[in-house]
Amino acid sequence: MDGVDRGRDVLVVAGPGDTQDAILSAVAAQALDAEVLTDPDRLVLPWRSAGTVLVADDQAERVVARALPHRRGVFLVGADPAELSVWSAPLEAQVIPLPEGAAWLGSVLADGAARARAPVVAVVGGSGGVGASTLAAAIAQVAGERASPDGSGGAALVDADPTGGGIDLLLGAERAGGWRWPRLSSAEGRLGDLRGYLPVVDGVSVVSMARGQAVDLAREPLAAIVGSLCAWHSLVVIDPGRSLAASTREAVRLAGRQLLVVGVGVRGAAAARQTVAVLGLERAELVLRGGRGALASDLVAEAVGRPVVARLPDESGLPAAAERGEPPARGARRRYRRAVVALVRDLVGEEETHG
Ligand SMILES: Nc1ncnc2c1ncn2[C@@H]1O[C@H](COP(=O)(O)OP(=O)(O)OP(=O)(O)O)[C@@H](O)[C@H]1O
Ligand SMILES: [Mg+2]
Repeated sequence: MDGVDRGRDVLVVAGPGDTQDAILSAVAAQALDAEVLTDPDRLVLPWRSAGTVLVADDQAERVVARALPHRRGVFLVGADPAELSVWSAPLEAQVIPLPEGAAWLGSVLADGAARARAPVVAVVGGSGGVGASTLAAAIAQVAGERASPDGSGGAALVDADPTGGGIDLLLGAERAGGWRWPRLSSAEGRLGDLRGYLPVVDGVSVVSMARGQAVDLAREPLAAIVGSLCAWHSLVVIDPGRSLAASTREAVRLAGRQLLVVGVGVRGAAAARQTVAVLGLERAELVLRGGRGALASDLVAEAVGRPVVARLPDESGLPAAAERGEPPARGARRRYRRAVVALVRDLVGEEETHG
């Protein structure tokens, strides 16, 4: 994990004075974690990893002179907006005038902190081979398609199944360069932005197992990595597998949404019920694989004792697509894709739109 700096909520580039005082009281009001710097040579790492960067009037010129890389979430703060606006273009930063912009400063800080709370979803199979990993990859793929051209707002896909064979294969990312679990498994605490270190394909940052190298994934690194991914992505999808390993349990604990893929039928439902009990999936929402008609949904929901949120069609082309490393929600698999798109909208809290 060498080289990944620790990210704070807020980087404050301000010398002592009224502006610094105003910024720090806004930061304190939201109980955020801030780093205050004036030395331009020390800016490079926190500039990249902080959730929000506030540059005070007294430091704007020096920061611009440092020619730091463009990033989102930079704001210029001070009492003279006309003077600050000179620096707004080179930093691509908005100007927050004080004291009248104090409320805006508060909401900017709250937004930055909210970015640290992207939804986390775990996709678990109610029985073996039912299509959980495929659905996890498909959800990440569809969410990743919504990333901005600058890479922000993408999705993250985290493989926490030590015997799954590597989820990167499902997105054709096995040859993409970047760190995999063996490099990441000593992570702990609060991490900065990992995107520059991970394989990224089509807007999806992938944390996968490495083939040929067993990793005994502990709770702490998984929590640290997921915590970091939440700050820099719009959705984090975990494939916990079905083992009783610590990483599987931690993955389902970290997930705000627990999707359980259930094969329609008596055995599928019975296995899913057992899986809910054994893994403690208190928040499980069922995704039915195959079957037709509302009756099937009602019967499975009743048998498992959890609600149904989606249905996935059987798609005969999926196994071959997986072999080719072609992302699951692509190509001729339109019905499967439609189901996944609706699910992603639900996961990111968007209203269903028609057309
Ligand atoms: N909706 C579907 N229709 C048809 N085949 C599917 C569907 N979803 C997945 N498959 C295929 O089923 C097989 C198992 O899929 P996958 O690996 O995603 O299941 P899993 O639940 O993660 O399995 P495991 O228990 O081994 O982790 C693969 O060949 C995959 O392509
Ligand atoms: Mg799997």
